[in-house]
Amino acid sequence: MIGPDRGGRSFSPCRSPDDRTCGTDGRCPHERVRPADGPVIDRLIECPGHTGQFDDRTGKAKGAPVCGNRATCPVTVEGGRVLVQAD
Ligand code: FES
Repeated sequence: MIGPDRGGRSFSPCRSPDDRTCGTDGRCPHERVRPADGPVIDRLIECPGHTGQFDDRTGKAKGAPVCGNRATCPVTVEGGRVLVQAD
């Protein structure tokens, strides 16, 4: 994952091993760690802070220590550029 900031917001677009793209908030709701270095395993994004996990399609938290979901946004790759569709 990579973690660009844009317009005062932070995003974490990622590509899974089966080549799907997804995007979520760039900060973990637990202790605001940037999850950009975390792996995506079996449709779960793992936060490098304390190994909290989130569904890569919905941003839904999948158990402790995280207590909140992450917003999601569409991500596409066009011509080698990663495009994040933020509201
Ligand atoms: S900061 Fe993400 S799980 Fe703690």
